[in-house]
Amino acid sequence: MRALVKAKPEPGLWMEERPVPVIGPDEVLIRVRKTGICGTDVHIWNWDDWAAKTVPVPLVTGHEFAGEIVEVGRDVEDLAVGQRCSGEGHLIGHHSRQVRAGRFHLDPETRGIGVNVAGAFADYLRLPAFNVVPLPDSIDDEIGAILDPLGNAVHTALSFDLVGEDVLVTGAGPIGIMAAAVARHVGARHVVITDVNPARLALAAEVADVVPVNVASEDLHQVMDRLKIVQGFDVGMEMSGAPAGFDQMVGAMVMGGRIAMLGIPPGRSPVDWSRIVFKALTIKGVYGREIFETWYKMIAMLENGLNIRRVITHRFPVARFAEGFAAMREGSSGKVVLDWG
Ligand SMILES: NC(=O)c1ccc[n+]([C@@H]2O[C@H](COP(=O)([O-])OP(=O)(O)OC[C@H]3O[C@@H](n4cnc5c(N)ncnc54)[C@H](O)[C@@H]3O)[C@@H](O)[C@H]2O)c1
Ligand SMILES: [Zn+2]
Repeated sequence: MRALVKAKPEPGLWMEERPVPVIGPDEVLIRVRKTGICGTDVHIWNWDDWAAKTVPVPLVTGHEFAGEIVEVGRDVEDLAVGQRCSGEGHLIGHHSRQVRAGRFHLDPETRGIGVNVAGAFADYLRLPAFNVVPLPDSIDDEIGAILDPLGNAVHTALSFDLVGEDVLVTGAGPIGIMAAAVARHVGARHVVITDVNPARLALAAEVADVVPVNVASEDLHQVMDRLKIVQGFDVGMEMSGAPAGFDQMVGAMVMGGRIAMLGIPPGRSPVDWSRIVFKALTIKGVYGREIFETWYKMIAMLENGLNIRRVITHRFPVARFAEGFAAMREGSSGKVVLDWG
């Protein structure tokens, strides 16, 4: 089969021929139809410090996918050949207190497909049946292929009650834009999204009814005055990973406000903790998706009018994967989807 492999410890990914994976009794084999390129995949391509210390070489990369089950292991009872699916790319253990309590997304033994073990950028993916998420007919393969990052957005957005609240999203990358769309969908009052990249802000306004603010040229507090956000934002979602984004968010929050933080700051970054204490803010770190509550919620919302399709800005046949990665690396794309048909 074809696979996009991190074959050498240096920048790049290579299309190689690989054997089709052999599945175990509790696993399924999935014929991959579409995959999404994630910022994580770009780190792996670039072979930065994180990638070099995390990713074993060689490795089949990729974790955002949709496809169809073509084989089921002998102990798999509730899935059948022909089932269209996506799936949770975090493989969990069975030992930790968290897993035994059913809080699967908090398992410290989690391994990621396409990061620690063979991934989805291939014609075939081997996955535990437990991780499979069947897709209803209403969700096509390209949306199925971006449920993983949509799940990051949904997990973050549903961390706090948003109904009637004023929400600030810092960072209009694909995940920030989708989180803003979710906040709008579930009934926030105002949803303001910031970035320093005009193309990203324009994309945000195309995807959802949100207020884009370019913090490189506009004063966020003037925008708040215009929207009659008197004391500050009730809920913040940090989606930039930029220390400046988080700092501005802290400054714009209401007393007692709540921040869900998905963005990953680079290394140790300075934080003015006194403002967080004096504003009595709650900050929640968000990792991955709740398994499988986030999946349930996002599929339910997609079936009930949440429309994030326009966040997909580039589509390529997989033979042109390098162009897809180039679009990602350029920094103004939304989601980039590769077709394995
Ligand atoms: N915690 C998790 O499980 C998890 C999962 C996926 C992604 N992430 C992280 O979530 C973040 C969002 O992911 P993405 O793929 O959308 O990222 P991205 O890099 O595409 O988007 C980040 C955006 O933030 C903008 N930005 C930079 N400085 C800013 C500032 N001062 N104020 C406002 N915006 C600013 C950038 O221009 C960019 O458009 C990243 O930090 C990523 O590493 C975390
Ligand atoms: Zn991803």
